[in-house]
Amino acid sequence: MKNYKRYLITSALPYANGPLHIGHLAGVYVPSDIYTRYLRLKGVDVISICGSDEHGVPITLKARNEGITPQEVVDRYHAINKKAFEDFGIAFDIYSRTSNKIHYETASDFFLTLYKKGEFIEKTSEQYYDEEAGCFLADRYIIGTCPHCGNENAYGDQCEKCGNSLSPNDLINPRSTISGSEPVMRETLHWYLPLDKYEGWLRQWILEDHKEWKTNVYGQCKSWIDQGLQPRAVSRDLDWGVPVPVEGAEGKVLYVWFDAPIGYISATRELTPDWEKYWKDPETKMVHFIGKDNIVFHCIIFPSMLRAEGSYILPDNVPANEFLNLENDKISTSRNWAVWLHEYLEDFPGKQDVLRYSLCSNAPETKDNDFTWKDFQARNNNELVAILGNFVNRALVLTGKYYDGFVPERNETTEFDRSVLDEISRLKTNVEESLESYRFREALREAMNLARLGNKYLADSEPWKLVKTDPDRVRTIMNISMQITANLTIVLQPFLPFSMETLRKWIRMELRPWSDAGRDDLLPAGHRIGKPGLLFEKIEDADIEKQINKLMSSRKANEAAAVQAAPAKDTVSFDDFTRIDIRTATILEAEKVPKTTRLLKLKIDTGLDIRTIVSGIAEYYNPADIVGRQISIVANLEPRKIKGIESKGMILMAEDKDGKLVMVSPESPVSNGSTIK
Ligand code: 2FM
Ligand code: ZN
Repeated sequence: MKNYKRYLITSALPYANGPLHIGHLAGVYVPSDIYTRYLRLKGVDVISICGSDEHGVPITLKARNEGITPQEVVDRYHAINKKAFEDFGIAFDIYSRTSNKIHYETASDFFLTLYKKGEFIEKTSEQYYDEEAGCFLADRYIIGTCPHCGNENAYGDQCEKCGNSLSPNDLINPRSTISGSEPVMRETLHWYLPLDKYEGWLRQWILEDHKEWKTNVYGQCKSWIDQGLQPRAVSRDLDWGVPVPVEGAEGKVLYVWFDAPIGYISATRELTPDWEKYWKDPETKMVHFIGKDNIVFHCIIFPSMLRAEGSYILPDNVPANEFLNLENDKISTSRNWAVWLHEYLEDFPGKQDVLRYSLCSNAPETKDNDFTWKDFQARNNNELVAILGNFVNRALVLTGKYYDGFVPERNETTEFDRSVLDEISRLKTNVEESLESYRFREALREAMNLARLGNKYLADSEPWKLVKTDPDRVRTIMNISMQITANLTIVLQPFLPFSMETLRKWIRMELRPWSDAGRDDLLPAGHRIGKPGLLFEKIEDADIEKQINKLMSSRKANEAAAVQAAPAKDTVSFDDFTRIDIRTATILEAEKVPKTTRLLKLKIDTGLDIRTIVSGIAEYYNPADIVGRQISIVANLEPRKIKGIESKGMILMAEDKDGKLVMVSPESPVSNGSTIK
């Protein structure tokens, strides 16, 4: 392994459009904090960078919905999230923000360097434009019907119902979320980073030179590269973001995913005038901590940008985590299915380490994992209280009781004592190896094994039975127990910084460097410790039930909202209504559209003609079952190409409360083509 001179640790910049929840902590910030704290203990030159990601369409949409400015939205959440990180001891060297002036300068300069080097392709394309509002519509400003599942409110970049990613052109009946009008196509100029140009280099750099990356990360990169990379637009028609700094680019800003990772650079510049040594010296090891949805941006796009620029280093590793679920369901802000960090602290004041511990023990390192309140309670009661708290308490209380708090002399040691002392340094090495390989769950387990060792040592040597008969022996046992305690304050420091600070106060020991862990003389004989309290308290069933009930209330509220009928639409004139030609028709043939899961291609007899309609109902109907069925259709809807098939018209469907679509059919057979009025 290469020996680096310094470390640059980055943690994904969270969007400043909502508060943080446990998924954020488990996926990104607890691991990055543990790693950084470990490096700091080692005494190496390390900086940890984070900040708010303050651009992007969801922020402008939120501002519009609330009738405030985007700046007001990001000011609010930047403050909330910065505080949440501080409260949980996530100790960044800087928590910056991408609406800062220094970021605008850095991102602008970066773009200009690439622009001047001719690294971009300029391309004009047709994009949706809202004539009423007078602006182009970025992905999230367009909604329409999802061609896969029929959801009428799918976004231009993704359908949140079926999860398919979309492009605005895929939407059926697109409409602008700004004015509600139907957008038109208009030409617009944008700048593209030709990722295809970097494909060969990325293949070598990741797939050959970084085979050590985590399987989930390596696998995603391989699949992107194998599918072939396309030029990516790095600008958008929007008025919130870093303006594209070239002539003729009025009304255009840098794409949020172009400016956000540059935010790591701006934050470093804000932190230190010496920032270039962290970003430009190959002796720096850069590590990006992120969640799995950010892999392509940190492993493919940002490295290509850095390479195009030419003077920056690349990440040595990107240990991305998978996702954390909550009580067997995906964490969701809109459904309020989450444990919000600020709410956790209201209910469990002072218990930051308990959450850090349970999230790290159960971190989604190799696959998605589930957080349950029962597991949280068990980790606290059975591990923090029963193993760590119990050992520390016995060691400190007995030292207080037998020796008035003075650490006793260690006399002659037995083979058992020596094996325990050896085990301390072995465990320290294990923790170190696991941390260096980004296996944080394993590292924590090994660190806790030191407390297990302490418990076993006391249980097997039973000083309370010997204190009267063999005081020399007991002095040795208690000395060794105190050395174990002192070692715990080092090896657990990255994981449980609050509790270890408390424990250090009790034993009156300064924070010691990582290199001191494994030593058997951290607390010399004659050193006097203070009075201990309880390091961890039991969490009662009632506390857990309260949390589960809170989640159940969210679930009930969601269910109630789901069965509520959609709000009434605006009134239309009778003339407008009669312009829509709704008719009965019969399905003659039905087949699945190849390579899709939700689309059926239907041949139908409309009484006027025989035509094809593509409909997103494959999930609900078997092709064979619906041949011969009479249905209702909108016959004069503008034809639309879906998956290369021209679809002429739309089948009328009703949506059930669980999202199932049902065809609307006449009560008894009528001739095809009869008008529904
Ligand atoms: O997924 C997210 O929350 C993004 N805001 C992460 C950005 S990471 C970096 F590129 F800034
Ligand atoms: Zn869909």
